[in-house]
Amino acid sequence: MLITPEEIGERVRELGQSLSRDYAGKDPLLVGVLKGAVVFMADLMRAADIPLAADFIAVGSYGGTTRSSGVVKITADLSVSIEERHVVIVEDIIDTGRTIGYLKRNLETRRPASLRVMALLDKIERREVEVELDYVGFTIPNHFVVGYGLDYRGRYRNLPCVAVLEEEPRG
Ligand code: PRP
Repeated sequence: MLITPEEIGERVRELGQSLSRDYAGKDPLLVGVLKGAVVFMADLMRAADIPLAADFIAVGSYGGTTRSSGVVKITADLSVSIEERHVVIVEDIIDTGRTIGYLKRNLETRRPASLRVMALLDKIERREVEVELDYVGFTIPNHFVVGYGLDYRGRYRNLPCVAVLEEEPRG
């Protein structure tokens, strides 16, 4: 176990408070990136005590099986316009940075009033693309992690903690 459910709960509460403070009176739109961010998003929303809206976006990669190609595509788009909205992208983990880099560029073209990123986990050693993260829950070492939304081949998303897979898969 890398991060316990109690540690996650405490940090998510703090992040919710940060949102409440920074976005008071701004009616922010939280954009969760499917599927990994679902668990974090659900807890984060309830940790914020200001009016806010939530939407989701799904991304995949062209061609190959991994996203390391860096070519990202939107597989399910937002259901609302973000023009003039204060938008916070909510991610479970930032790895190479390619996905969030693409999403930021894409959403920026839709003219939001502001655009920030909140990530629960930052695997900074793996970064290939420089991206500014506005809120980070935990900076973690370069292990393959699962739980609290993160999967290995579709499994383990429902673990209440963040855990390291002992047999680390390649890629
Ligand atoms: C994960 C995570 C980010 C992306 C980060 O998604 O949720 O979207 O990878 O990697 P990057 O910084 O190298 O681009 P994943 O591909 O596991 O999809 P999932 O959320 O549906 O599990």
